[in-house]
Amino acid sequence: MNRSMILGTGSAVPKKILTNQDLESMVDTSDEWISSRTGIKQRHIAEDGDTTSLLAAEATRRALEMAGVKPEEVDVIVVSTTSPDMIMPNTGALVQKHLGAYNAFGFDVYAACAGFVYALTIADKFVKDKPESKVVAIGAELLSYITDWQDRNTCVLFGDAAGAVVLSGTNDGTRGILSTHLHSDGRLWKLLHIPGGGMVYPASAEMVEKRDYCIRMQGNEVYKYAVRLMTDVAREALTANELGPDDVDLFIPHQANIRIMKKVAERLEIPLDRVYVNIERYGNTSSATVPVALDEANRAGRLKPGDVVLLDAFGGGFSWGAIMLRW
Ligand code: COA
Repeated sequence: MNRSMILGTGSAVPKKILTNQDLESMVDTSDEWISSRTGIKQRHIAEDGDTTSLLAAEATRRALEMAGVKPEEVDVIVVSTTSPDMIMPNTGALVQKHLGAYNAFGFDVYAACAGFVYALTIADKFVKDKPESKVVAIGAELLSYITDWQDRNTCVLFGDAAGAVVLSGTNDGTRGILSTHLHSDGRLWKLLHIPGGGMVYPASAEMVEKRDYCIRMQGNEVYKYAVRLMTDVAREALTANELGPDDVDLFIPHQANIRIMKKVAERLEIPLDRVYVNIERYGNTSSATVPVALDEANRAGRLKPGDVVLLDAFGGGFSWGAIMLRW
């Protein structure tokens, strides 16, 4: 049976680090509050010259190097981002340019923090369609540009990062992406959104003054939905593959809040030593959290051939999804 398999992973973050202590001098907050409520200790933040597409390209170069695939061999580049360099062109085209991957075509997927799971699902379909193709799926975000640094409810949560995977077909029969599961519910859009900058509320001096180009969120409500929907879709993925919690070697949830991750793992009955957590170092980097975690786990030797890996993410839209794969 033809499946798509991850040949390489890569990730990249901007150099600058913003700690909880740094935030104490920016808004009325404390390291104690942020650590205990979210699990975050620090995050990486873009500086002048950093762009989403450059960070995405850096992560992809590392993934290509691991995969032994040259940029000119890439067929498709799927980028998930909510913080593109520009509204037009799409980030995929810019990543293509940075890499010199001129035989590929690139485009963006737009599903907030669940975006990488969407991008990987689409990449998987391209590979199934043409197993010899080399397809790149990326999650890349510079959320620091759409974070309201005067709003303590949100500014302590987010960070910047990019992660990428390279996929191609395998006839192995056991390894590769086993199933993908996507959902959305547009009725809940208002709980987590960016009001300004689109065509409903276009750029204006007033919009900028109110910082309405930034993320707005009803944290408590988002928290409850995140726990419920991430648990539901993970169960759906387990059931579809006739697997139980004991079969999962590594669970990689979206890194939004350590309490959300622990609650979901508890409901799924997956012990914490099989849950990948790095939120303390990066914060919530939206669609980059899952591929960055996957790359770290891979490079740390935590993934052995045959391991069952469950990816699970949730974000604005609402959008959520899970992917089950055998490493
Ligand atoms: N520092 C100090 N106090 C803060 C604070 C901060 N950075 N942010 C909020 N507070 C205060 C609130 O004002 C509130 O004060 P009050 O009781 O006097 O009104 C108090 O802390 C509790 O706020 P609450 O919102 O109930 O905290 P919480 O335990 O729900 O944690 C979040 C807040 C945002 C960390 C949590 O709701 C969360 O993680 N939600 C999900 C967010 C998310 O993951 N979004 C992205 C999804 S992809």
